[in-house]
Parts: sequence; structure tokens; C-alpha cells
Amino acid sequence: MSTISNPFRPGAGHRPPYLAGRFQEIEGFKKLLNQEVIVDNLVLTGLRGVGKTVLLDEFRPLSIEAGWLWVGTELSESTCVSEDTIALRLITDLAVVTSGIIISSEVQKTFGFSRVEKRIETQLDYYTLKSVYEELPGLSSDKLKGVLELVWSCIQNKGYRGIIFAYDEAQTMSDQAQKEQYPLSLLLEVFQSIQRKNIPFMLILTGLPTLFPKLVEARTFAERMFSVMFLDRLGKKDSRDAIVEPVKKSHCLVKFSTNAIDEIVKSSGGYPYFIQYICKEAFDMYLQELKITQDPQIDYRKAVEEITRKLDNDFFAGRWARATDRQRELLHVIANLNTSDEEFSVQEVVEAARKLKKPFSSSHVNQMLNTLTLMGLVYKNRHGRYSFAVPLLGEYIRRQERESMKRKGQMELFTRDDFNRQ
Ligand SMILES: Nc1ncnc2c1ncn2[C@@H]1O[C@H](COP(=O)(O)OP(=O)(O)OP(=O)(O)O)[C@@H](O)[C@H]1O
Ligand SMILES: [Mg+2]
Repeated sequence: MSTISNPFRPGAGHRPPYLAGRFQEIEGFKKLLNQEVIVDNLVLTGLRGVGKTVLLDEFRPLSIEAGWLWVGTELSESTCVSEDTIALRLITDLAVVTSGIIISSEVQKTFGFSRVEKRIETQLDYYTLKSVYEELPGLSSDKLKGVLELVWSCIQNKGYRGIIFAYDEAQTMSDQAQKEQYPLSLLLEVFQSIQRKNIPFMLILTGLPTLFPKLVEARTFAERMFSVMFLDRLGKKDSRDAIVEPVKKSHCLVKFSTNAIDEIVKSSGGYPYFIQYICKEAFDMYLQELKITQDPQIDYRKAVEEITRKLDNDFFAGRWARATDRQRELLHVIANLNTSDEEFSVQEVVEAARKLKKPFSSSHVNQMLNTLTLMGLVYKNRHGRYSFAVPLLGEYIRRQERESMKRKGQMELFTRDDFNRQ
């Protein structure tokens, strides 16, 4: 029997075997690529595991094909500690595509008594760009603008449409008022300024839903500077494709039954990471069984139940463990609101918490939601309403509740039995 390999790829940034859906987003992006003068930059945002990184990776070849240069990387808190670090980050990324460019300049030198003209050739590599940055006068933003303008003047006749600067995990950027360092504001200001001078450098920032409000808070003009693409879970048809197509593509004889597909669509909630995770586990289960019998029959409901339990441990338990008892109480209240899977307000939480033995005041809820935001469990949208920042967190919490009720019921039975026996 030939070996069958598992086609599914759960994991941050792992290219899926089949990129389901996202046609609209890709079309939207192609429109941005057609801009002569950059008036729209892009914020690509959405919950954890919804497919931001893989879509960004998909945008890269499209951009290159359309004549753009593409630079960028994943950001982290350490990239953005100061204005100089973010500027040097951009210069480092830029140097990757400019280092092959040679610029030549005429300089006049004096040899003995005579002055002669000499041509000097300089490579536009990291060291050149960095020394230009260091030697230019002014603030970090002026220096960076100067470098970007120089680079454009050197490449504008080489047939490129422009340069795309693409940064993932951009929600990690922050201004540091206490240290008087404003790297995020610097990035926004520099791009706004060079775009006003018709230099076609476009910015793509990818990150969690906290990203866009953070940009607007840093510089209000960010609201007009970016188109926001909010990546949502996949619809039913696209979820099905994400399950079926990888199996088809891998030409293996294993197939998910229609019932199993429906069950996976339902329990994954259409979230790409969960689809990959559940399918990979289910596929492995099948391969395990195949070692024992030629025609494995798997009870798909039981299988999905088992996989969900594993997912709870792998994905949710760590996040849940970081919450205090009181925070968990609040999260239970939220998870049981009718609209908890979309959005909720402080007032709704306070109302629902009235039933508790120890209710929550609205200032208390506000304060706790702030802490939960910093912990990455909820986020506040631009309209001042909150949502869970982790996909399917509400369902996980409700599942925990049911499990704990079951356990309590069993304990009760056990103690009663115990009592009767005596
Ligand atoms: N459109 C899609 N179709 C099928 N699978 C997808 C799709 N988009 C993403 N995936 C899969 O989902 C998982 C998560 O994708 P990705 O890492 O891009 O998410 P993300 O939004 O960047 O997550 P994070 O917020 O953690 O950075 C990966 O295993 C990827 O292969
Ligand atoms: Mg990502």
C-alpha cells in the first residue's frame, strides 16, 4: 500500500493546501494595486487564525506580477521600541530590493594642482541607506523620508510601479509617550508625507482587531489613509471547499463523508485554523485505523467530540488558565449573552450580571474588560462595543460550563450513592 500523507496544515502562517474563499478580498486588493497615486493603504485584520498571514503571502506574488516591489516582515514589540528602530527596520527591508542598484555620481577631487572629475559608483545597500539616514539632518521622520525619496529617485525609471511595505503582526506597534518615542506615529506620518509627494510607496499592515483603532488613536488621519479589510470566518461553501479540496488534490482514496464534512463545518465555525486542525486530526485518526483494518469505519460524531476536546486543551486552555476566578465569572456572564458571539456592551454585561450573588458595577466591568483586552481575550471596536478576541471563545466557555455541570451531577450522584450504601 502506498503511504498516504496528511494534506492539512494547522499552524500560524502555514500555507493551506487549498486557499478557500477570499475571492472578494483578492479582487479588492487588485484594485489597490491599480492606484497611480496612493490614496489608499491597507489594513488586513481579523481574529487569531482567520488567515491574515496566508492571505498576505498570497498578495505578494500578485503585487510582483503587477510590477510592484514587495518588502516587509513580521513586526514585534522589540522592532518598535523607538523611532530609530522602526526606521532602521524599514531600511533593512528596503535594502533587500535595492542592494542590486548602483548609483553613480560625479565628484570633483584635487590631485596635486589640478582638479579632476571622478565618477563614484555606490551600491544602494543597507550600509549606504543607513549612512544616508544618519547623515541627513532633522528628526527621525525627516531622515527616513529623505531615504525613501532617495530610493524612489533611483528606481523610478526602472519600470516599477512602486514599492509595497507589508508588515504582519502590526498590532504590536505602539507609541511610547513616557519614553517620548513615537514609532507608530512616525510610520504613519512618513507614509502620508511621501504619498502626498506622489511617491508610490504603499503600506499594508496586518494584525488583530486592535490594530486599526490603535492607528487612529496614534494619528486621526489614519482613518482616511487605510482601507480596512476585515477577514471573517469562511462561509459554508468555502468551509466545505477547505475540507474537500485538499483531499482531492492529494489524490488519496480517503474521503470525508457528507455527514463528517457537515460536522466539521459546524464545529469549526468556519474558522480556517480550526478547519485545518480538525481535518488533520480526523485524517490521522483514519490513517491509524487503516493500520488495523482495510476499511475503517469512524463514528464522525465521536471523532469530532474527541478532537474538540484536544483542541480545547491545545488552543483554549492556556488562555483560560491565565484568567482569575473573578475574570472567569465575568467571561461566563458574557458567554451567555445572546449576542456574545458578535458583540456586547458594558451595559449588557452589567444587566446580565445582576443575577449573580456578587454582581459587577459598570466601572468594575469597564476596568475588567480593559485588563481582558490586554490579555488578548476581548477587544473594543470603534463603536465602543466589545467582542471576544479569540474565535469561538464563547462556545468554549459554554462547553466548560456544561462539562462542569455534568461533573457536578456525577459528584452528586456519587455522594448520594455513597450515602445510601452506608
Ligand atoms: N482561506 C483559507 N482556506 C483554508 N485554510 C486557511 C485559509 N486561511 C488560512 N488557513 C489556514 O488557517 C491557519 C491560520 O492561518 P494564518 O496563520 O494565516 O492566520 P492568522 O490570521 O495570520 O493568525 P494569527 O492571528 O495567529 O497570526 C493556517 O493553518 C492556514 O493554513
Ligand atoms: Mg498571522
